[in-house]
Amino acid sequence: MASKIAILASGSGSNAENIIRYFQKSLKFEFPLILSNKSDAFVHERAKKLGIPSFTFSRQQFLEGDEVLVFLQKYNIDYIILAGFLLKVPEQIIKAFPNKIINIHPALLPKYGGKGMYGDNVHKAVKAADDSESGITIHYVNENYDDGNIILQAKCELFSDDTPETIAQKVHKLEYEHFPKAVEMIWGKKTGMTRSGFHVFLDRG
Ligand code: GAR
Repeated sequence: MASKIAILASGSGSNAENIIRYFQKSLKFEFPLILSNKSDAFVHERAKKLGIPSFTFSRQQFLEGDEVLVFLQKYNIDYIILAGFLLKVPEQIIKAFPNKIINIHPALLPKYGGKGMYGDNVHKAVKAADDSESGITIHYVNENYDDGNIILQAKCELFSDDTPETIAQKVHKLEYEHFPKAVEMIWGKKTGMTRSGFHVFLDRG
Protein backbone atom coordinates (compact mmCIF):
# COMPACT_ATOMS: atom_id res chain seq x y z
CA MET A 1 0.00 0.00 0.00
CA ALA A 2 1.27 3.47 -0.85
CA SER A 3 2.40 5.74 1.99
CA LYS A 4 0.55 9.01 2.22
CA ILE A 5 2.55 12.21 2.29
CA ALA A 6 1.27 15.67 3.19
CA ILE A 7 3.29 18.58 1.83
CA LEU A 8 3.37 21.85 3.74
CA ALA A 9 4.43 24.94 1.80
CA SER A 10 4.19 28.68 2.39
CA GLY A 11 5.17 30.08 -0.98
CA SER A 12 5.73 29.23 -4.60
CA GLY A 13 5.75 25.48 -4.10
CA SER A 14 8.17 24.59 -6.86
CA ASN A 15 9.70 21.86 -4.68
CA ALA A 16 6.24 20.54 -3.82
CA GLU A 17 5.38 20.29 -7.52
CA ASN A 18 8.73 18.71 -8.37
CA ILE A 19 8.33 16.01 -5.74
CA ILE A 20 4.75 15.23 -6.71
CA ARG A 21 5.67 14.97 -10.39
CA TYR A 22 8.66 12.76 -9.57
CA PHE A 23 6.39 10.24 -7.85
CA GLN A 24 3.43 10.58 -10.21
CA LYS A 25 3.84 7.11 -11.69
CA SER A 26 5.21 5.52 -8.54
CA LEU A 27 3.15 3.21 -6.36
CA LYS A 28 5.22 4.08 -3.29
CA PHE A 29 3.67 7.39 -2.34
CA GLU A 30 0.41 9.26 -2.61
CA PHE A 31 -0.01 12.98 -2.04
CA PRO A 32 -3.54 13.43 -0.75
CA LEU A 33 -3.14 17.05 0.31
CA ILE A 34 -1.06 20.18 0.44
CA LEU A 35 -1.34 22.52 3.41
CA SER A 36 -0.29 26.15 3.54
CA ASN A 37 -0.46 29.01 6.00
CA LYS A 38 -1.05 31.46 3.12
CA SER A 39 -4.27 31.48 1.13
CA ASP A 40 -2.59 33.40 -1.71
CA ALA A 41 0.51 31.20 -1.95
CA PHE A 42 1.27 30.07 -5.50
CA VAL A 43 1.46 26.49 -4.26
CA HIS A 44 -2.39 26.44 -4.37
CA GLU A 45 -2.27 27.12 -8.14
CA ARG A 46 0.19 24.31 -8.57
CA ALA A 47 -2.01 22.00 -6.49
CA LYS A 48 -5.02 22.81 -8.67
CA LYS A 49 -3.02 22.00 -11.80
CA LEU A 50 -1.84 18.73 -10.25
CA GLY A 51 -5.37 17.84 -9.11
CA ILE A 52 -4.40 17.72 -5.45
CA PRO A 53 -6.58 19.32 -2.78
CA SER A 54 -4.88 22.17 -0.95
CA PHE A 55 -5.99 23.84 2.26
CA THR A 56 -5.03 26.91 4.22
CA PHE A 57 -4.73 27.02 7.98
CA SER A 58 -3.96 30.25 9.77
CA ARG A 59 -0.63 30.87 11.43
CA GLN A 60 -2.34 30.45 14.80
CA GLN A 61 -3.96 27.16 13.81
CA PHE A 62 -0.58 25.85 12.71
CA LEU A 63 1.18 27.03 15.84
CA GLU A 64 -1.50 25.58 18.15
CA GLY A 65 -1.38 22.37 16.17
CA ASP A 66 -4.45 20.41 17.36
CA GLU A 67 -6.74 21.17 14.43
CA VAL A 68 -4.01 20.54 11.88
CA LEU A 69 -3.11 17.26 13.59
CA VAL A 70 -6.72 16.04 13.50
CA PHE A 71 -6.86 16.99 9.82
CA LEU A 72 -3.66 15.07 9.02
CA GLN A 73 -4.98 12.05 10.88
CA LYS A 74 -8.31 12.24 9.07
CA TYR A 75 -6.37 11.86 5.81
CA ASN A 76 -4.31 8.97 7.28
CA ILE A 77 -1.09 10.83 6.58
CA ASP A 78 2.09 8.79 7.15
CA TYR A 79 4.77 11.39 6.42
CA ILE A 80 5.11 15.16 6.21
CA ILE A 81 7.38 17.14 3.89
CA LEU A 82 8.13 20.79 4.58
CA ALA A 83 8.86 22.33 1.19
CA GLY A 84 9.42 26.01 1.86
CA PHE A 85 7.17 25.99 4.93
CA LEU A 86 8.10 28.89 7.14
CA LEU A 87 6.36 28.25 10.45
CA LYS A 88 7.62 26.18 13.33
CA VAL A 89 5.95 22.77 13.53
CA PRO A 90 4.27 22.41 16.94
CA GLU A 91 5.35 19.76 19.40
CA GLN A 92 2.25 17.59 19.23
CA ILE A 93 2.64 17.17 15.47
CA ILE A 94 6.33 16.34 15.86
CA LYS A 95 5.46 13.77 18.54
CA ALA A 96 2.72 12.26 16.37
CA PHE A 97 5.16 11.88 13.43
CA PRO A 98 8.49 10.77 14.93
CA ASN A 99 11.19 10.82 12.23
CA LYS A 100 8.40 11.24 9.73
CA ILE A 101 8.74 14.95 9.06
CA ILE A 102 11.53 16.28 6.87
CA ASN A 103 12.50 19.80 5.90
CA ILE A 104 14.67 21.24 3.18
CA HIS A 105 16.89 24.18 4.02
CA PRO A 106 18.60 26.23 1.30
CA ALA A 107 22.07 26.30 2.88
CA LEU A 108 24.63 24.02 4.46
CA LEU A 109 23.41 23.78 8.05
CA PRO A 110 24.42 24.53 10.72
CA LYS A 111 25.41 27.66 8.79
CA TYR A 112 22.61 30.09 7.98
CA GLY A 113 19.93 28.30 9.99
CA GLY A 114 17.47 29.44 12.64
CA LYS A 115 14.55 31.84 12.88
CA GLY A 116 14.27 34.31 10.01
CA MET A 117 16.70 32.31 7.88
CA TYR A 118 14.63 31.26 4.92
CA GLY A 119 14.57 31.67 1.16
CA ASP A 120 16.26 34.81 -0.12
CA ASN A 121 17.39 35.89 3.36
CA VAL A 122 19.69 32.90 3.35
CA HIS A 123 21.12 33.61 -0.10
CA LYS A 124 21.72 37.27 0.77
CA ALA A 125 23.57 36.25 3.94
CA VAL A 126 25.70 33.75 1.99
CA LYS A 127 26.56 36.48 -0.53
CA ALA A 128 27.34 39.01 2.21
CA ALA A 129 29.74 36.51 3.78
CA ASP A 130 31.40 35.98 0.40
CA ASP A 131 31.27 32.20 0.86
CA SER A 132 32.85 30.01 -1.78
CA GLU A 133 30.13 27.38 -1.53
CA SER A 134 26.52 26.91 -0.59
CA GLY A 135 24.06 24.07 -0.90
CA ILE A 136 21.10 22.32 0.61
CA THR A 137 20.37 20.40 3.78
CA ILE A 138 17.57 17.89 4.09
CA HIS A 139 16.92 17.03 7.71
CA TYR A 140 14.45 15.59 10.17
CA VAL A 141 12.36 18.15 11.99
CA ASN A 142 12.55 18.58 15.75
CA GLU A 143 11.28 21.30 18.11
CA ASN A 144 13.94 23.82 17.07
CA TYR A 145 14.37 25.59 13.76
CA ASP A 146 16.75 23.79 11.38
CA ASP A 147 18.11 21.59 14.13
CA GLY A 148 17.07 17.96 13.52
CA ASN A 149 19.37 15.16 12.37
CA ILE A 150 20.78 15.71 8.93
CA ILE A 151 19.77 13.26 6.22
CA LEU A 152 21.55 14.69 3.20
CA GLN A 153 23.62 17.68 2.15
CA ALA A 154 24.63 18.67 -1.36
CA LYS A 155 26.98 21.51 -2.28
CA CYS A 156 27.50 23.94 -5.12
CA GLU A 157 30.51 26.15 -5.74
CA LEU A 158 30.10 29.94 -5.66
CA PHE A 159 32.13 32.60 -7.44
CA SER A 160 32.70 36.29 -6.79
CA ASP A 161 30.23 37.29 -9.52
CA ASP A 162 27.40 35.21 -8.04
CA THR A 163 24.46 37.25 -6.74
CA PRO A 164 21.75 36.17 -4.28
CA GLU A 165 19.64 35.40 -7.37
CA THR A 166 22.22 33.15 -9.03
CA ILE A 167 22.91 31.48 -5.68
CA ALA A 168 19.18 30.80 -5.37
CA GLN A 169 19.18 29.25 -8.85
CA LYS A 170 22.08 26.95 -8.03
CA VAL A 171 20.48 25.94 -4.76
CA HIS A 172 17.09 25.30 -6.38
CA LYS A 173 18.79 23.07 -8.94
CA LEU A 174 20.23 20.97 -6.12
CA GLU A 175 16.85 20.88 -4.40
CA TYR A 176 15.04 19.62 -7.49
CA GLU A 177 17.62 16.93 -8.02
CA HIS A 178 18.00 15.66 -4.46
CA PHE A 179 14.78 16.24 -2.54
CA PRO A 180 12.66 13.57 -4.29
CA LYS A 181 15.53 11.09 -4.18
CA ALA A 182 16.02 11.70 -0.45
CA VAL A 183 12.32 11.00 0.13
CA GLU A 184 12.64 7.79 -1.84
CA MET A 185 15.74 6.79 0.06
CA ILE A 186 14.47 7.36 3.58
CA TRP A 187 10.85 6.34 3.31
CA GLY A 188 10.62 4.43 0.03
CA LYS A 189 12.69 1.59 1.38
CA LYS A 190 12.08 0.20 4.79
CA THR A 191 15.73 0.52 5.79
CA GLY A 192 16.75 2.63 8.77
CA MET A 193 18.94 5.70 8.62
CA THR A 194 22.07 6.05 10.66
CA ARG A 195 22.08 8.94 13.09
CA SER A 196 24.70 10.78 11.13
CA GLY A 197 22.80 10.40 7.87
CA PHE A 198 24.45 10.27 4.51
CA HIS A 199 26.02 13.04 2.56
CA VAL A 200 26.24 13.84 -1.11
CA PHE A 201 28.77 16.34 -2.27
CA LEU A 202 28.41 17.73 -5.73
CA ASP A 203 31.44 19.40 -7.16
CA ARG A 204 30.61 22.25 -9.43
CA GLY A 205 27.65 24.56 -9.46
C1 GAR B 1 13.35 26.51 -1.00
O1 GAR B 1 14.56 27.04 -1.48
C2 GAR B 1 13.54 25.92 0.38
O2 GAR B 1 14.81 25.38 0.58
C3 GAR B 1 13.35 27.13 1.26
O3 GAR B 1 12.30 27.85 0.66
C4 GAR B 1 12.35 27.65 -0.74
C5 GAR B 1 10.96 27.31 -1.21
O4 GAR B 1 10.89 27.32 -2.62
N1 GAR B 1 13.06 26.75 2.61
C6 GAR B 1 13.46 27.47 3.65
O5 GAR B 1 14.06 28.53 3.53
C7 GAR B 1 13.08 26.90 5.00
N2 GAR B 1 13.88 27.51 6.04
P1 GAR B 1 9.64 26.70 -3.35
O6 GAR B 1 8.38 27.25 -2.66
O7 GAR B 1 9.74 27.16 -4.76
O8 GAR B 1 9.72 25.20 -3.22
